[in-house]
Amino acid sequence: MSQSLTEKLESLKTEALRELSATLFNLESLEAFRVSYLGKNGKLTQILKDVGKLSPEERPKTGQLANQIKQVITLEIEKHAQTLQLEERNKALQEESVDVTLPGKTMWRGTRHPLKKTMEEIVQIFSNYGFQVAQGPEIESEYYNFDALNTPAWHPARDMQDTFYTVDQTVLRTHTSPVQIRVMERYKPPLRIVAPGAVYRHDDDVSHSPMFHQIEGLLVDENVSMAHLKGMITGFVHQYFSPQTHVRFRPSFFPFTEPSAELDIECMMCHGKGCNVCKHSGWLEVLGCGMVHPNVFRAVKYNAKKLSGFAFGMGIERLTMLKYGVDHIKLFFENDLRFLRQFS
Ligand code: PHE
Repeated sequence: MSQSLTEKLESLKTEALRELSATLFNLESLEAFRVSYLGKNGKLTQILKDVGKLSPEERPKTGQLANQIKQVITLEIEKHAQTLQLEERNKALQEESVDVTLPGKTMWRGTRHPLKKTMEEIVQIFSNYGFQVAQGPEIESEYYNFDALNTPAWHPARDMQDTFYTVDQTVLRTHTSPVQIRVMERYKPPLRIVAPGAVYRHDDDVSHSPMFHQIEGLLVDENVSMAHLKGMITGFVHQYFSPQTHVRFRPSFFPFTEPSAELDIECMMCHGKGCNVCKHSGWLEVLGCGMVHPNVFRAVKYNAKKLSGFAFGMGIERLTMLKYGVDHIKLFFENDLRFLRQFS
């Protein structure tokens, strides 16, 4: 019996090695081959079970032989497996090879919205003058939007036709000026703030939208004069548009400033000669401004005798349209990438 077991082992070894060298394996069929010999129910495993039935004298020798054969077959399978793995890797590398000389795909980078760009630019200019950014709510009480700004109930600016009312005595703010009041209520003078944000008016054409954006500015101190206002605003225009831009301050009226002015810049389309854009006046209106009205100081319990200050407010859409020659305000809100990409 032991004789035949040894023989069985030897012939199994021969068979296994022959099969290994004669067959074209892939990794899968090689694994099947391994299982068929060395797996739980494999040919060699079967024979090894019979070794236990041998007499104690025969067992060690035969056992040794069986283990040796197992090692030989295992080693041979591993060699095959390594070769196969290498081949598969090479094949994959060849198939998946990338031509690094091909041009890449163009990816569009997102950019800031033109209105946001203008806003940040203006805030930057004024922060160089020592202004800080302030904010207020878009849904505002009539008190902050009008009363505290010296705009009493009978004032035409409060007309339902211009102002969006939400509930009683509450409006969508029609300008950023209420932020002036909120800031002065909370902080002591001196102060310099700019307040960018959305505002709402019942208005809709090529240059007006029911929602648009403004930046408010407020400076309060002692001995502030109209000359300071003119100097700072002119400096701003020269930085935002160009150092060559001509400006003029034209007398105007706002309930919360006295005296009040509007700032015009020379039309950049016709350089003052007169064209369609400036309605043949040669000038373009850019912002409203003035010296803070004493009644506004009284409303926030500031000392109107000791303090003075100036305020200004400008439309972001308008400033952006003038700078880039945009002829329709709706372009800012349609999010057409063909338009937006021109600002990247
Ligand atoms: N609030 C004014 C407007 O919306 C602009 C302005 C602000 C004028 C501050 C003077 C001072 O038209």
